[in-house]
Amino acid sequence: PQPRRQRFYPSQTTMTQRISLTRYLVEQQRVHGLLPGDLRLLLEVVARACKRISQAVNKGDLGDVMGAATTENVQGEIQKKLDIIANEVLIEANEWGGHLAAMASEEMEDIYVVPNRFPQGEYLLMFDPLDGSSNIDVNVSIGTIFSVLKKGHDNPNAIEPVSQQDFLQPGSQQVAAGYCVYGPQTTLVLTVGDGVAMFTLDREQGSFVLTKEHVQIPADTKEFSINMSNMRHWDEPVQRYVNECLAGKEGPRGKDFNMRWVASMVADVHRILTRGGIFLYPWDKREPEKAGKLRLMYEANPMSWLVEQAGGAATNGRQRILDIQPGKLHERVSVMMGSKNEVDRVTSYHSTL
Ligand code: AHG
Ligand code: MN
Ligand code: MN
Repeated sequence: PQPRRQRFYPSQTTMTQRISLTRYLVEQQRVHGLLPGDLRLLLEVVARACKRISQAVNKGDLGDVMGAATTENVQGEIQKKLDIIANEVLIEANEWGGHLAAMASEEMEDIYVVPNRFPQGEYLLMFDPLDGSSNIDVNVSIGTIFSVLKKGHDNPNAIEPVSQQDFLQPGSQQVAAGYCVYGPQTTLVLTVGDGVAMFTLDREQGSFVLTKEHVQIPADTKEFSINMSNMRHWDEPVQRYVNECLAGKEGPRGKDFNMRWVASMVADVHRILTRGGIFLYPWDKREPEKAGKLRLMYEANPMSWLVEQAGGAATNGRQRILDIQPGKLHERVSVMMGSKNEVDRVTSYHSTL
């Protein structure tokens, strides 16, 4: 593990002296030299957009935000009104600042190139504007997931107009990633490659306040997270892994496991970052030509980087997710992430086939 860098706060600074997201980002930029100014602006803007989405979410039936829209997205899923609202909020917030070249979203077929009337920057922003759509109408936690890449990372002199091709970089190239969970609290979770930090939205102040730093996922766990209703469709290694968990104390694992499934990846991964666990959405036989349900660029990559930054692991059963070279923007992937020893175990079951 990397040594923790000394934080440059006056010695009397404690968590009771509140550190805003803005201050955290300024410190990352000034002290750690980790954060170029444009990236800092980008993250501030994304956080502001998340605040607006949080407000819309909170309105519930009092606003025109609940229920289905009349449209389908590129994956053929019926969109919810909040999917569309959140997508628009993120685009409107980010298009004018000069920090971005283009955006890509789970809800849009093509990339959204920053219009000519605004200056273009060098960053690429990807997002799942509203994760856990099926939970909107039942008042269960949902969220926004985002990932940031740099345009032309392998060819910095490229002057060609931005295209989908620029987005097709492995997750290991991310320069920032995070999510915002809209639950009992609104919490923004972020990495810029220096560990994971969590910020709670203070609604009175209207700002995100640092509430946890150096988040660590315990290597062992007794909690797994998977949609059990799909069990009969899974591959043998995943069946074996879950069956061994279900066998409990009397089984080969020698301990009882608990199970949780929120059906919002943000909420399930947030729990894992908070107290450990393993999250799986594996490939299954229902649609064998699909690599998985979750999307590599908007869900798996940002979450994998956060999990790794917190000491956990993330694979597709055979390979580290962050090493996957995407072939297309809306690519899907099999996902296993969380407590390291559990992810290593289920991954090793795949290689013994
Ligand atoms: P989205 O709402 O962005 O389409 O994502 C939903 C995803 C993920 O958040 C969650 O883990 C999973 O779908 C739930 O799937 P099931 O309904 O199959 O359990
Ligand atoms: Mn999602
Ligand atoms: Mn979504």
